Amino acid sequence: MSKSQTYEIISLCKGMSCTLNGSEEVHDELELEIEKRALSDKIEIVESCCKGMCEEGPNATLLISGEQKNGIEVDKVKKIIDEIENCLF
Ligand code: FES
Repeated sequence: MSKSQTYEIISLCKGMSCTLNGSEEVHDELELEIEKRALSDKIEIVESCCKGMCEEGPNATLLISGEQKNGIEVDKVKKIIDEIENCLF
């Protein structure tokens, strides 16, 4: 994956099903990881309503790259931020 963007927006689902499946915990972990890496000016988290794929949640869309992330668990957050960070220049 090459460096091709300056910014990313993570649109994290806060619909009922994703919330029940842990999107709040995922949100907290994303914030922590972004802060730890001093990426707050490069990665933004926004909340979305249901994305219509509840059975795969918690779900997030990377709005700039267009990537979809499903079944996000807290222990997958570092890998997601790694992927985003690798694309930033
Ligand atoms: S509640 Fe998240 S996709 Fe439906």
